[in-house]
Amino acid sequence: MVASRALYGLFCPLGRASCLSAMTTFLSGIQPSGLQHLGNYFGAIRQHILGTEEPGDHFYFIADYHALTTSRDPEVLRERVRETAVTYLALGLDPAKASLFRQSDVPEVTEIAWLLSTVTGMGLLERAHSFKDKMTRGLKANVGLFTYPILMAADILAYESNVVPVGKDQVQHVEMAQDMAGYFNGAYGDVFVRPEYKLAAEAVFAKVPGLDGDKMSKSYGNTIPIFQTGKQLKKLFGKIKTDSRDPEEPKDPAEILPMRFLELFLPAAQLREWEERVRTGGEGAPGYGELKMAAYEAMEETFAPARAKREELLANPEALEEVLMAGAAKARERAARVRDRALQACGLK
Ligand code: ADP
Ligand code: TRP
Repeated sequence: MVASRALYGLFCPLGRASCLSAMTTFLSGIQPSGLQHLGNYFGAIRQHILGTEEPGDHFYFIADYHALTTSRDPEVLRERVRETAVTYLALGLDPAKASLFRQSDVPEVTEIAWLLSTVTGMGLLERAHSFKDKMTRGLKANVGLFTYPILMAADILAYESNVVPVGKDQVQHVEMAQDMAGYFNGAYGDVFVRPEYKLAAEAVFAKVPGLDGDKMSKSYGNTIPIFQTGKQLKKLFGKIKTDSRDPEEPKDPAEILPMRFLELFLPAAQLREWEERVRTGGEGAPGYGELKMAAYEAMEETFAPARAKREELLANPEALEEVLMAGAAKARERAARVRDRALQACGLK
C-alpha cells in the first residue's frame, strides 16, 4: 500500500486529488448517542468491520463534534464516546487494519468544514431530510444542527475517502458531500476527491425492526442493545410484538416479527427449517414464545465472544486511549495534507 502510494507520487507530483483517488480509502463515522443496538450493528458497524478486509485504507471515527448538536452533559458524552469505541473493538475492528479515532482529535476537519461552508448555498442545507424531519418534530434547531452536513462532508473529504459505507438514512448527506466537493473544486481546481456511498449488500440488515415492528431506533425506545444479556435480554425478546393467533395456524414467516429477529442471527439452513415449521402449521409449529426464545439464544451466542472482549477493554482504559490516539495520529496526517491543499488552492497559504 505504502509502496504503491509512493509510486503514484512519481506520476502525480503534489499529490493532487485526481491521482490520489486511484487508491481506495474507506471512511465512516458513527454518533456516540446512547447504547448501540442491533440496528446499528447490522445496519452499520458490521459493514464497517467486514469492510476492513478489503484492500485500501480504512478510517472509522466517533462523531463527537456532531453529538454536541444535541448533547449537554459532558460526563455522559465522554462515557458514550468510550462505550462506542469499545463497541467497535469488541465486535472485531482490528486497529492494525483500520484507524479508529475521535472526530474531535482531528481539528483539521473543522477547518475544512469552514472552507466548505463558504462555497455551500443555504438551499442545499435546507433540503436535508434529517434536518427537515427534526423541524417537523418540533425540535428547536441550533446552527450546528443546520450545518451538520457540512461537518460531515468535511469528515469525508478530509481523508480523500472514495467509499463511505452508511445506512440508507445517510445517503443524502454523502450526496451533499459530493456536491460540496464539486462546488469547491469548481471554484479552486482539483482539491477534493469525490466520495461514493456504499449500502449494506444484505437487504435484511438495511432496516432492522424494533420490538414494536417499526425501525429499531434510540429515538423510538424500541431497541435491543448489542451487549444486553441474561434476564434483561430475555425480557426484551419477550416484548417483541406478536398477534394472538394459535401456534397451529399456518402463517407466512415474512409477516411474523420474531422471525425477523431469527433472520439476523441464524445461518440460512437453520432459518429455513424454522420458516417451514411456521408455514406448515399444525402440531410441529412453534409458538411465538418458542420463536422469541430461539432468537434470544441465538443472540446470546452470537455476541458472547464480543461481550468477553468488551469486559477486557473496559478494564484497560489506557490501552483504549492508545488505540484512539494512534488512530487520530494517522488520520491527522492525511487530514493536514488535504487541509493544506485546500488552503493553498483558495489563497490562504
Ligand atoms: P438511531 O436511529 O438509533 O439514533 P443512528 O441514527 O445513530 O441510530 O444510526 C447510526 C447508524 O446505524 C446509521 O448508519 C444507521 O443507518 C444505522 N441504523 C440505525 N438504526 C438502524 C436500523 N434499525 N436498521 C438498520 N440500520 C440502522
Ligand atoms: N451522520 C452520521 C450518522 O448519524 C455520522 C457521521 C458523521 C458520518 N460524519 C460522518 C458517517 C461521515 C459517514 C461519514 O450516522
